Amino acid sequence: MSLAQRRILLGVSGGIAAYKSCELVRRLRDLGAEVRVVMTEGATRFVSATTFQALSGQPVRTSLWDAEAEAAMGHIELARWAERILVAPASADLIARLAHGLANDLLTTVCLASAAPLYVAPAMNQQMWAHPAVQANVETLRQRGVRLLGPASGDQACGDIGSGRMLEPLELREALVASYGDQALHGLKVVVSAGPTYEDIDPVRFIGNRSSGRMGFAVAEAAAQAGAEVTLVAGPVSLATPPGIARRIDVRSAAQMRDAVVASTANADIYIGAAAVGDYRPAQVAEHKLKKHDGAPLELRLAENPDILATLAAQTVRPFLVGFAAETHDVERYARDKLARKGLDMIAANQVGGGLGFEAADNALTLYSPEGTIELPRVSKTELARQLVARVAERYRAVRP
Ligand code: PMT
Repeated sequence: MSLAQRRILLGVSGGIAAYKSCELVRRLRDLGAEVRVVMTEGATRFVSATTFQALSGQPVRTSLWDAEAEAAMGHIELARWAERILVAPASADLIARLAHGLANDLLTTVCLASAAPLYVAPAMNQQMWAHPAVQANVETLRQRGVRLLGPASGDQACGDIGSGRMLEPLELREALVASYGDQALHGLKVVVSAGPTYEDIDPVRFIGNRSSGRMGFAVAEAAAQAGAEVTLVAGPVSLATPPGIARRIDVRSAAQMRDAVVASTANADIYIGAAAVGDYRPAQVAEHKLKKHDGAPLELRLAENPDILATLAAQTVRPFLVGFAAETHDVERYARDKLARKGLDMIAANQVGGGLGFEAADNALTLYSPEGTIELPRVSKTELARQLVARVAERYRAVRP
């Protein structure tokens, strides 16, 4: 089990079970997680912020009105930082505020401002837990995709017996570990390229392509979720960095992408080339904006770009190489040709054009490797990326045990 470099935001609301969350911080850190704690005002009545600060090794935030932290929009920074948010204990009040989308303290504001999956561990008196108002709020959260952890049943601090106990720290930790999947790439360094490249013609024009970067960004996120340390080399796209990415390098041209990929794969285990790299660039970039010449055709001379995959394949020590093939026709023939010609370990072929592949929210892939062919039917790029990463991990482990 590992949570190495996982960024967990622990929200603590007011309840006696807050003392168990101190233990939870320790257990999360045992597995390598980075933990930051946000406490509600009520939580500070049960456990001091200093305790959580000492255990997490990080400053603890308790207020939305912390002038120093908020000068740099601290709540947004925290919301973006988190890969997972776990609220433990979650009191009836906190659950109600989450269900109704309130943002009247730092914790609820961060929950609203974050795209990270939200886990909630309720803790309250059994009569409160059974109350229809609480149950309705819990149902609202469930339907919204919030993962409810517990509560457990048993003796309560108030002397009652029943449902409403917070799960034990190790049970909560297990749920977070499980949320990261089977960690098939744990301990591996993976470089993913994504998006288009732009090749400048003059100061205002360029040759580009329709790649949005969505497929490559989904692959990078899936690799990070599978436990890899991921470097994402991104062409010019307007996508936010997915959670869990160790570093992102933004580039513009194919030559810049080649340099960034070669440098970052120096000690990488796997390279996945999802970028749509321009095959050609203008042989010369005009210094000034090109002008029209009375209807005369403009001729552009193009020079071939370096092939990034072929450059890596030619190295004596090379990462496991996964290419993509974007084809409008004869998909299998061209994909197999690229697999052999570029010296790849695997190629993921997709039919493109007519609304497929580029820019779309979903996609389908056929994977070719010396092992055989695997069809990954059309689903969202996020899900497809997970399936691709699982296959890459299997194949990698088979050839480089
Ligand atoms: O970004 P999206 O909008 O989500 O669209 C996704 C996608 C269609 C761009 C993606 O699924 C995809 O197919 N990416 C590869 C596109 C491409 O350039 O294919 P290609 O057949 O031209 O290149 C084959 C492989 O060689 C690719 O892995 C490419 O990264 C690599 N290559 C190409 C040229 C070059 N100079 N160097 C390279 O390494």
